[in-house]
Amino acid sequence: MATIGQDINIARELLEQGMLVAIPTETVYGLAANALDGNAVAAIFAAKNRPYFDPLIVHVPSFAHAKKYIHDIPPVAEQLARTFWPGPLTLLLPKNEMIPDLVTSGLDRVGIRCPSHPLTLALLDKLVFPLAAPSANPFGYVSPTTAQHVQDQLGGKIQYILDGGPCTVGIESTILGWEDQHPVVYRMGGVSLEQLEAIVGAVKVHPHSGSRPQTPGQLESHYAPHKEFVLGDLGQLIAQNTFQKPGILAFQKEVPGIDKSYQRVLSPSGDLKEAAQNLFSMLRQLDGMKVDGVLAEEVTPVGLGRAINDRLRRAATKR
Ligand code: TXA
Ligand code: MG
Repeated sequence: MATIGQDINIARELLEQGMLVAIPTETVYGLAANALDGNAVAAIFAAKNRPYFDPLIVHVPSFAHAKKYIHDIPPVAEQLARTFWPGPLTLLLPKNEMIPDLVTSGLDRVGIRCPSHPLTLALLDKLVFPLAAPSANPFGYVSPTTAQHVQDQLGGKIQYILDGGPCTVGIESTILGWEDQHPVVYRMGGVSLEQLEAIVGAVKVHPHSGSRPQTPGQLESHYAPHKEFVLGDLGQLIAQNTFQKPGILAFQKEVPGIDKSYQRVLSPSGDLKEAAQNLFSMLRQLDGMKVDGVLAEEVTPVGLGRAINDRLRRAATKR
């Protein structure tokens, strides 16, 4: 099992040796390695069982650092970074040769962001290289929002988990790039469409694509629990007897007639920030319960709610 601790010097030493370290960010925990070292990056794909066609996000301590690895930066990209970094926004920009092709799966653009977490920022400041880091979960499963989540699934494959407490945002970063100079959102996340549009004007949200997606986080089935997971109107799903013994993921209130210990409520007050913080953790709890399957409902589709609903839909079992 991995050691869980808060020592950035241990994390630094391991990373300098080309090893993997799990790191906290405000969104989800990442499985990090030296982004400039092809062998270290390859180890990330192996540990996650991740297909090589799915590129990795590169983490930097500031926009000034990002500039070392990208070019043809639209002025608005810098403005976005000034506004949202450190924070849950990943920018897709043309990479230079310092970034190995493996990081971007051969694509010309690299996804780059500055995470907002004091431990990880302090670590990045000490390193002379940026960190490639996907979410620290086996490919396709729910993302981790605590050090223990990482331990449960990848603890056997890494030496150290830097523990920064529970993630404050709880869903992954928003991914934004440009096509013919038009801003395109490839993944909804911690920065809402409304927040982006206030700065860049109308954005396109990239529709889901098929077998070799531009952004594999957009694969239709992703973030998936192991149990059957059905999304819809909770009252109807229960009336239809979808499962003999269901677990429930509700937005604001428990449903009557079902044992409360098999129910989780994302946010009793309807606060989408709180709902996002709880989402992955509650999905994991429900996945571990003695239930036949999980029934869930969507949240209010504004702000962070869109990103939450996106994850719920991708978590849903295709029947
Ligand atoms: O919040 C986050 O973004 C977290 C934390 C750890 O930073 N990271 C994360 O990484 O969610 P991951 O690998 O689980 O998801 C990254 C998504 C993938 O769907 C990947 O396909 C897409 O970003 N992506 C990364 N680089 C890309 C690129 N160059 N072009 C297109 N999509 C890219
Ligand atoms: Mg992921």
